[in-house]
Amino acid sequence: MKKIIVTPWEVKGELEKLDYTKLIKKFGTKPLTQDLLEKLKKITGELHLFLRRGVFFSHRDFDWILDKYNVGEKFCLYTGRGPSGVVHLGHLIPWMFTKWLQDKFDVELYFQLTDDEKFLVKDLSLDQTLSFSFNNVLDIIACELAPEKTHIFIDTQYTKTLYKLALRIAKHLTFSTVKAVFGFKPSDNIGIIFFPAMQIAPCFLPSILKGKLVPCLIPASIDQDPYWRPARDVAPRLGFYKPAQIHSRFLPGLGRGGKMSASEPETAIFVTDSLEVVERKILNAFDGGQPTLREQKEKGGNPDICLIYQYFYFLFEPNDKKIENLKSDCKNGKLVCGECKQKLATKVKEFLAGYQQRREKAKNIVDKFILKD
Ligand code: TYM
Repeated sequence: MKKIIVTPWEVKGELEKLDYTKLIKKFGTKPLTQDLLEKLKKITGELHLFLRRGVFFSHRDFDWILDKYNVGEKFCLYTGRGPSGVVHLGHLIPWMFTKWLQDKFDVELYFQLTDDEKFLVKDLSLDQTLSFSFNNVLDIIACELAPEKTHIFIDTQYTKTLYKLALRIAKHLTFSTVKAVFGFKPSDNIGIIFFPAMQIAPCFLPSILKGKLVPCLIPASIDQDPYWRPARDVAPRLGFYKPAQIHSRFLPGLGRGGKMSASEPETAIFVTDSLEVVERKILNAFDGGQPTLREQKEKGGNPDICLIYQYFYFLFEPNDKKIENLKSDCKNGKLVCGECKQKLATKVKEFLAGYQQRREKAKNIVDKFILKD
Protein backbone atom coordinates (compact mmCIF):
# COMPACT_ATOMS: atom_id res chain seq x y z
CA MET A 1 0.00 0.00 0.00
CA LYS A 2 1.23 3.51 -0.85
CA LYS A 3 2.13 5.60 2.13
CA ILE A 4 -0.52 7.90 3.60
CA ILE A 5 0.89 11.04 5.16
CA VAL A 6 -1.11 12.86 7.84
CA THR A 7 0.73 15.71 9.52
CA PRO A 8 -0.45 19.27 10.26
CA TRP A 9 1.50 20.35 7.16
CA GLU A 10 0.72 17.57 4.73
CA VAL A 11 -2.26 15.31 4.08
CA LYS A 12 -1.58 13.07 1.14
CA GLY A 13 -1.99 9.57 -0.24
CA GLU A 14 -4.87 7.13 -0.62
CA LEU A 15 -7.06 8.68 2.05
CA GLU A 16 -9.82 6.14 1.57
CA LYS A 17 -7.53 3.59 3.16
CA LEU A 18 -6.92 5.51 6.35
CA ASP A 19 -7.91 3.54 9.47
CA TYR A 20 -9.63 6.11 11.68
CA THR A 21 -10.12 3.71 14.60
CA LYS A 22 -6.35 3.32 14.71
CA LEU A 23 -5.95 7.09 14.62
CA ILE A 24 -8.18 7.44 17.70
CA LYS A 25 -5.87 5.06 19.55
CA LYS A 26 -2.69 6.61 18.22
CA PHE A 27 -3.74 10.18 19.02
CA GLY A 28 -5.39 9.26 22.33
CA THR A 29 -8.74 10.85 21.47
CA LYS A 30 -12.24 9.48 22.12
CA PRO A 31 -14.81 8.19 19.62
CA LEU A 32 -18.00 10.23 19.21
CA THR A 33 -20.41 7.71 20.68
CA GLN A 34 -24.12 7.35 20.06
CA ASP A 35 -24.77 8.46 23.67
CA LEU A 36 -22.84 11.64 23.15
CA LEU A 37 -24.65 12.34 19.89
CA GLU A 38 -27.98 11.88 21.70
CA LYS A 39 -26.86 14.35 24.35
CA LEU A 40 -26.03 16.83 21.58
CA LYS A 41 -29.34 16.22 19.82
CA LYS A 42 -31.22 17.15 22.99
CA ILE A 43 -29.78 20.64 22.59
CA THR A 44 -29.69 21.04 18.82
CA GLY A 45 -32.90 19.18 17.96
CA GLU A 46 -31.25 17.40 15.03
CA LEU A 47 -27.89 16.00 14.00
CA HIS A 48 -25.87 17.43 11.15
CA LEU A 49 -25.23 15.16 8.20
CA PHE A 50 -21.55 14.97 9.21
CA LEU A 51 -22.58 13.52 12.57
CA ARG A 52 -25.17 11.09 11.22
CA ARG A 53 -22.60 9.78 8.74
CA GLY A 54 -19.59 9.60 11.05
CA VAL A 55 -17.64 12.28 9.17
CA PHE A 56 -16.97 13.85 12.55
CA PHE A 57 -15.86 10.80 14.45
CA SER A 58 -13.66 11.72 17.39
CA HIS A 59 -13.34 14.32 20.15
CA ARG A 60 -11.71 15.48 23.33
CA ASP A 61 -13.93 16.90 26.08
CA PHE A 62 -16.89 17.54 23.76
CA ASP A 63 -19.09 16.09 26.54
CA TRP A 64 -17.63 18.66 28.94
CA ILE A 65 -18.43 21.47 26.46
CA LEU A 66 -22.07 20.31 26.39
CA ASP A 67 -22.20 20.06 30.18
CA LYS A 68 -20.88 23.59 30.50
CA TYR A 69 -23.41 24.81 27.93
CA ASN A 70 -26.24 23.08 29.77
CA VAL A 71 -25.43 25.01 32.94
CA GLY A 72 -25.33 28.31 31.06
CA GLU A 73 -21.62 28.64 30.30
CA LYS A 74 -21.31 29.32 26.60
CA PHE A 75 -18.23 28.22 24.69
CA CYS A 76 -16.40 29.89 21.79
CA LEU A 77 -15.50 28.14 18.58
CA TYR A 78 -12.00 28.29 17.16
CA THR A 79 -10.81 27.03 13.78
CA GLY A 80 -8.39 28.09 11.06
CA ARG A 81 -6.70 27.98 7.70
CA GLY A 82 -3.09 27.88 6.57
CA PRO A 83 -3.14 30.30 3.62
CA SER A 84 -0.92 28.62 1.04
CA GLY A 85 -3.20 28.67 -1.98
CA VAL A 86 -6.67 27.85 -3.15
CA VAL A 87 -9.18 26.16 -0.88
CA HIS A 88 -10.63 22.76 -1.90
CA LEU A 89 -13.89 21.08 -0.95
CA GLY A 90 -12.17 19.15 1.86
CA HIS A 91 -11.31 22.39 3.68
CA LEU A 92 -14.97 23.32 3.69
CA ILE A 93 -15.93 20.27 5.78
CA PRO A 94 -14.81 21.70 9.16
CA TRP A 95 -15.98 25.19 8.20
CA MET A 96 -19.49 24.07 7.22
CA PHE A 97 -19.74 22.15 10.47
CA THR A 98 -18.46 25.17 12.38
CA LYS A 99 -21.24 27.25 10.82
CA TRP A 100 -23.79 24.66 11.95
CA LEU A 101 -22.43 24.73 15.51
CA GLN A 102 -22.40 28.54 15.48
CA ASP A 103 -26.05 28.63 14.40
CA LYS A 104 -27.25 25.92 16.76
CA PHE A 105 -25.47 27.22 19.86
CA ASP A 106 -25.46 30.91 18.91
CA VAL A 107 -21.79 31.26 19.79
CA GLU A 108 -18.82 33.34 18.69
CA LEU A 109 -16.14 32.01 16.38
CA TYR A 110 -12.45 32.92 16.25
CA PHE A 111 -10.88 32.09 12.89
CA GLN A 112 -7.09 32.13 12.55
CA LEU A 113 -5.15 32.52 9.29
CA THR A 114 -1.62 31.30 9.83
CA ASP A 115 0.29 33.21 7.15
CA ASP A 116 3.38 32.96 9.37
CA GLU A 117 3.15 29.13 9.38
CA LYS A 118 2.89 28.88 5.61
CA PHE A 119 5.77 31.32 5.15
CA LEU A 120 7.91 29.13 7.39
CA VAL A 121 7.07 25.72 5.88
CA LYS A 122 6.52 26.53 2.19
CA ASP A 123 8.57 28.19 -0.48
CA LEU A 124 6.45 31.34 -0.30
CA SER A 125 7.22 34.96 0.57
CA LEU A 126 5.42 36.84 3.36
CA ASP A 127 3.71 38.98 0.73
CA GLN A 128 2.40 35.84 -0.95
CA THR A 129 1.07 34.25 2.24
CA LEU A 130 -0.58 37.56 3.21
CA SER A 131 -2.19 37.81 -0.20
CA PHE A 132 -3.46 34.19 0.08
CA SER A 133 -4.83 35.14 3.50
CA PHE A 134 -6.97 37.94 2.08
CA ASN A 135 -8.16 35.58 -0.63
CA ASN A 136 -9.00 32.86 1.86
CA VAL A 137 -10.96 35.31 4.00
CA LEU A 138 -13.44 35.39 1.11
CA ASP A 139 -13.61 31.58 1.10
CA ILE A 140 -14.37 31.63 4.80
CA ILE A 141 -17.05 34.32 4.61
CA ALA A 142 -18.69 32.43 1.72
CA CYS A 143 -19.46 29.65 4.24
CA GLU A 144 -22.17 31.98 5.60
CA LEU A 145 -20.74 32.53 9.06
CA ALA A 146 -22.50 35.16 11.18
CA PRO A 147 -20.69 38.52 10.68
CA GLU A 148 -21.49 39.84 14.14
CA LYS A 149 -20.21 36.66 15.79
CA THR A 150 -17.21 35.75 13.62
CA HIS A 151 -13.76 37.22 14.23
CA ILE A 152 -11.16 36.47 11.58
CA PHE A 153 -7.51 37.36 12.17
CA ILE A 154 -4.28 36.97 10.23
CA ASP A 155 -1.28 36.12 12.39
CA THR A 156 1.16 38.75 11.05
CA GLN A 157 -1.54 41.43 11.27
CA TYR A 158 -2.81 40.63 14.75
CA THR A 159 0.54 40.29 16.46
CA LYS A 160 0.11 42.84 19.24
CA THR A 161 -2.39 40.58 20.98
CA LEU A 162 -1.35 37.19 19.67
CA TYR A 163 2.39 37.40 20.14
CA LYS A 164 2.21 38.20 23.85
CA LEU A 165 -0.11 35.27 24.42
CA ALA A 166 2.10 32.99 22.29
CA LEU A 167 5.11 34.01 24.36
CA ARG A 168 3.37 33.02 27.58
CA ILE A 169 2.59 29.63 26.04
CA ALA A 170 6.07 29.17 24.56
CA LYS A 171 7.65 29.68 27.97
CA HIS A 172 5.95 26.47 29.12
CA LEU A 173 6.80 24.39 26.06
CA THR A 174 10.20 22.79 25.89
CA PHE A 175 11.99 21.91 22.67
CA SER A 176 11.87 18.23 23.60
CA THR A 177 8.05 18.37 23.94
CA VAL A 178 7.45 19.93 20.54
CA LYS A 179 10.10 17.70 18.99
CA ALA A 180 8.30 14.62 20.31
CA VAL A 181 4.90 15.86 19.11
CA PHE A 182 5.81 17.27 15.70
CA GLY A 183 8.96 15.32 14.87
CA PHE A 184 11.11 18.45 14.43
CA LYS A 185 14.64 17.88 13.20
CA PRO A 186 17.83 19.88 13.92
CA SER A 187 17.72 21.17 10.34
CA ASP A 188 14.25 22.73 10.77
CA ASN A 189 14.16 26.51 11.00
CA ILE A 190 13.61 27.92 14.47
CA GLY A 191 10.50 29.79 13.33
CA ILE A 192 8.49 26.62 12.92
CA ILE A 193 9.70 25.36 16.28
CA PHE A 194 8.14 28.44 17.92
CA PHE A 195 5.06 28.39 15.68
CA PRO A 196 2.96 25.86 17.69
CA ALA A 197 2.63 28.57 20.36
CA MET A 198 0.97 30.81 17.73
CA GLN A 199 -1.61 28.17 16.78
CA ILE A 200 -2.28 27.35 20.44
CA ALA A 201 -2.77 31.03 21.41
CA PRO A 202 -6.31 31.42 19.99
CA CYS A 203 -7.52 28.60 22.30
CA PHE A 204 -7.19 31.13 25.12
CA LEU A 205 -7.87 34.33 23.17
CA PRO A 206 -11.60 34.52 24.01
CA SER A 207 -10.74 34.28 27.71
CA ILE A 208 -8.23 37.13 27.34
CA LEU A 209 -10.56 39.33 25.29
CA LYS A 210 -13.56 38.77 27.56
CA GLY A 211 -11.63 38.89 30.81
CA LYS A 212 -13.15 35.65 32.09
CA LEU A 213 -12.67 31.93 31.49
CA VAL A 214 -14.36 30.83 28.25
CA PRO A 215 -14.49 27.17 27.15
CA CYS A 216 -13.10 26.67 23.65
CA LEU A 217 -14.22 24.08 21.10
CA ILE A 218 -12.12 23.41 18.00
CA PRO A 219 -13.79 21.79 14.99
CA ALA A 220 -11.07 20.63 12.56
CA SER A 221 -9.88 17.51 10.81
CA ILE A 222 -7.67 15.12 12.69
CA ASP A 223 -4.46 16.34 10.99
CA GLN A 224 -4.41 19.40 13.27
CA ASP A 225 -4.59 17.32 16.43
CA PRO A 226 -0.87 17.51 17.33
CA TYR A 227 -1.32 21.19 18.22
CA TRP A 228 -4.01 20.49 20.78
CA ARG A 229 -1.99 18.06 22.89
CA PRO A 230 0.57 20.64 24.08
CA ALA A 231 -2.29 23.19 24.20
CA ARG A 232 -4.08 21.02 26.74
CA ASP A 233 -0.88 20.48 28.75
CA VAL A 234 -0.15 24.18 28.96
CA ALA A 235 -3.71 25.39 29.69
CA PRO A 236 -3.90 24.69 33.43
CA ARG A 237 -0.40 26.08 33.96
CA LEU A 238 -1.59 29.41 32.56
CA GLY A 239 -4.92 29.24 34.38
CA PHE A 240 -7.12 28.54 31.32
CA TYR A 241 -9.58 25.75 30.51
CA LYS A 242 -8.19 22.95 28.35
CA PRO A 243 -9.45 23.42 24.77
CA ALA A 244 -11.89 20.76 23.54
CA GLN A 245 -11.85 19.30 20.05
CA ILE A 246 -14.18 17.61 17.61
CA HIS A 247 -12.36 15.90 14.74
CA SER A 248 -13.43 15.09 11.22
CA ARG A 249 -12.25 12.58 8.69
CA PHE A 250 -10.75 13.74 5.41
CA LEU A 251 -12.76 14.23 2.29
CA PRO A 252 -10.79 11.95 -0.04
CA GLY A 253 -9.35 13.14 -3.34
CA LEU A 254 -10.66 12.00 -6.70
CA GLY A 255 -7.75 9.72 -7.61
CA ARG A 256 -7.66 5.95 -7.12
CA GLY A 257 -8.02 5.05 -3.45
CA GLY A 258 -9.04 8.64 -2.63
CA LYS A 259 -5.69 9.99 -3.65
CA MET A 260 -5.31 13.71 -2.98
CA SER A 261 -2.13 15.55 -3.81
CA ALA A 262 -1.32 19.25 -4.04
CA SER A 263 0.93 18.56 -7.01
CA GLU A 264 -1.93 16.88 -8.91
CA PRO A 265 -4.73 19.46 -9.17
CA GLU A 266 -7.01 16.97 -10.93
CA THR A 267 -7.35 15.07 -7.63
CA ALA A 268 -9.19 17.89 -5.84
CA ILE A 269 -12.07 20.23 -6.58
CA PHE A 270 -11.06 23.78 -5.78
CA VAL A 271 -13.73 26.25 -4.78
CA THR A 272 -12.62 28.67 -7.50
CA ASP A 273 -12.57 26.06 -10.30
CA SER A 274 -14.74 26.95 -13.27
CA LEU A 275 -17.85 24.82 -13.59
CA GLU A 276 -16.46 23.19 -16.77
CA VAL A 277 -13.28 22.18 -14.94
CA VAL A 278 -15.36 20.74 -12.07
CA GLU A 279 -17.37 18.67 -14.49
CA ARG A 280 -14.21 17.35 -16.18
CA LYS A 281 -12.63 16.40 -12.85
CA ILE A 282 -15.72 14.50 -11.79
CA LEU A 283 -16.12 12.68 -15.09
CA ASN A 284 -12.45 11.62 -14.87
CA ALA A 285 -12.57 10.60 -11.20
CA PHE A 286 -11.84 7.06 -10.08
CA ASP A 287 -15.07 5.08 -9.77
CA GLY A 288 -16.05 1.65 -8.57
CA GLY A 289 -17.50 0.55 -11.90
CA GLN A 290 -16.89 -2.50 -14.06
CA PRO A 291 -14.82 -2.20 -17.26
CA THR A 292 -17.87 -2.60 -19.55
CA LEU A 293 -21.50 -1.58 -19.40
CA ARG A 294 -22.58 -5.21 -19.76
CA GLU A 295 -20.47 -6.29 -16.79
CA GLN A 296 -21.75 -3.33 -14.78
CA LYS A 297 -25.35 -4.43 -15.41
CA GLU A 298 -24.50 -8.06 -14.54
CA LYS A 299 -22.16 -7.69 -11.58
CA GLY A 300 -22.94 -4.20 -10.30
CA GLY A 301 -20.46 -1.57 -9.15
CA ASN A 302 -18.47 -1.25 -5.93
CA PRO A 303 -19.50 1.87 -3.97
CA ASP A 304 -16.99 1.04 -1.23
CA ILE A 305 -14.06 2.05 -3.42
CA CYS A 306 -15.91 4.65 -5.50
CA LEU A 307 -14.99 8.31 -5.00
CA ILE A 308 -18.17 9.49 -6.64
CA TYR A 309 -20.12 7.65 -3.97
CA GLN A 310 -17.90 9.20 -1.29
CA TYR A 311 -18.62 12.73 -2.51
CA PHE A 312 -22.35 12.01 -2.41
CA TYR A 313 -21.93 10.49 1.06
CA PHE A 314 -19.90 13.34 2.56
CA LEU A 315 -21.59 16.32 0.99
CA PHE A 316 -23.90 16.00 -1.93
CA GLU A 317 -26.69 13.59 -0.95
CA PRO A 318 -27.96 14.73 2.44
CA ASN A 319 -31.07 12.51 2.28
CA ASP A 320 -30.32 9.27 4.19
CA LYS A 321 -32.88 7.21 2.27
CA LYS A 322 -31.59 8.43 -1.08
CA ILE A 323 -27.97 7.62 -0.24
CA GLU A 324 -29.02 4.08 0.70
CA ASN A 325 -30.85 3.72 -2.61
CA LEU A 326 -27.88 5.07 -4.49
CA LYS A 327 -25.68 2.44 -2.89
CA SER A 328 -28.01 -0.46 -3.62
CA ASP A 329 -28.75 0.72 -7.18
CA CYS A 330 -25.01 0.82 -7.78
CA LYS A 331 -24.40 -2.60 -6.27
CA ASN A 332 -27.13 -4.31 -8.26
CA GLY A 333 -26.13 -2.74 -11.54
CA LYS A 334 -29.17 -0.47 -11.93
CA LEU A 335 -27.01 2.62 -11.93
CA VAL A 336 -24.19 3.10 -14.39
CA CYS A 337 -21.12 5.20 -13.61
CA GLY A 338 -21.52 7.76 -16.40
CA GLU A 339 -25.02 8.59 -15.21
CA CYS A 340 -23.95 8.74 -11.57
CA LYS A 341 -21.02 11.03 -12.36
CA GLN A 342 -23.28 13.37 -14.33
CA LYS A 343 -25.64 13.53 -11.36
CA LEU A 344 -22.80 14.39 -9.01
CA ALA A 345 -21.38 16.96 -11.43
CA THR A 346 -24.78 18.70 -11.55
CA LYS A 347 -24.98 18.84 -7.74
CA VAL A 348 -21.41 20.06 -7.27
CA LYS A 349 -21.78 22.70 -9.94
CA GLU A 350 -25.01 23.91 -8.35
CA PHE A 351 -23.32 24.16 -4.97
CA LEU A 352 -20.24 25.91 -6.34
CA ALA A 353 -22.25 28.41 -8.40
CA GLY A 354 -23.96 29.57 -5.17
CA TYR A 355 -20.71 29.50 -3.23
CA GLN A 356 -18.84 31.50 -5.86
CA GLN A 357 -21.57 34.14 -5.86
CA ARG A 358 -21.34 34.45 -2.08
CA ARG A 359 -17.56 34.62 -2.38
CA GLU A 360 -17.85 37.55 -4.80
CA LYS A 361 -20.24 39.37 -2.48
CA ALA A 362 -17.94 38.71 0.47
CA LYS A 363 -15.53 41.31 -0.95
CA ASN A 364 -17.91 44.05 0.25
CA ILE A 365 -18.22 42.86 3.82
CA VAL A 366 -14.69 41.74 4.76
CA ASP A 367 -14.34 44.57 7.30
CA LYS A 368 -17.22 43.25 9.37
CA PHE A 369 -15.24 40.08 10.07
CA ILE A 370 -11.65 41.17 10.60
CA LEU A 371 -10.37 41.38 14.15
CA LYS A 372 -7.88 44.20 14.61
CA ASP A 373 -5.64 45.31 17.47
P1 TYM B 1 -5.18 23.88 6.51
O1 TYM B 1 -5.26 25.13 5.74
O2 TYM B 1 -4.22 22.83 6.09
O3 TYM B 1 -6.62 23.21 6.57
C1 TYM B 1 -7.78 23.97 6.92
C2 TYM B 1 -8.79 23.03 7.55
O4 TYM B 1 -9.17 22.01 6.64
C3 TYM B 1 -8.98 20.73 7.21
N1 TYM B 1 -8.67 19.82 6.07
C4 TYM B 1 -9.54 18.89 5.62
N2 TYM B 1 -10.75 18.51 6.07
C5 TYM B 1 -11.40 17.53 5.41
N3 TYM B 1 -10.88 16.90 4.33
C6 TYM B 1 -9.67 17.23 3.83
N4 TYM B 1 -9.20 16.60 2.77
C7 TYM B 1 -8.93 18.28 4.49
N5 TYM B 1 -7.71 18.86 4.32
C8 TYM B 1 -7.59 19.79 5.29
C9 TYM B 1 -7.90 20.90 8.25
O5 TYM B 1 -7.99 19.94 9.26
C10 TYM B 1 -8.22 22.29 8.77
O6 TYM B 1 -9.22 22.21 9.77
N6 TYM B 1 -2.42 25.04 10.58
C11 TYM B 1 -3.76 25.05 10.01
C12 TYM B 1 -4.47 26.38 10.19
C13 TYM B 1 -5.07 26.55 11.57
C14 TYM B 1 -6.10 25.77 12.14
C15 TYM B 1 -6.32 26.31 13.43
C16 TYM B 1 -6.85 24.70 11.65
C17 TYM B 1 -4.71 27.49 12.50
N7 TYM B 1 -5.47 27.36 13.61
C18 TYM B 1 -7.32 25.78 14.25
C19 TYM B 1 -7.83 24.17 12.48
C20 TYM B 1 -8.06 24.70 13.76
C21 TYM B 1 -3.71 24.66 8.55
O7 TYM B 1 -2.73 24.80 7.90
O8 TYM B 1 -4.94 24.22 8.04
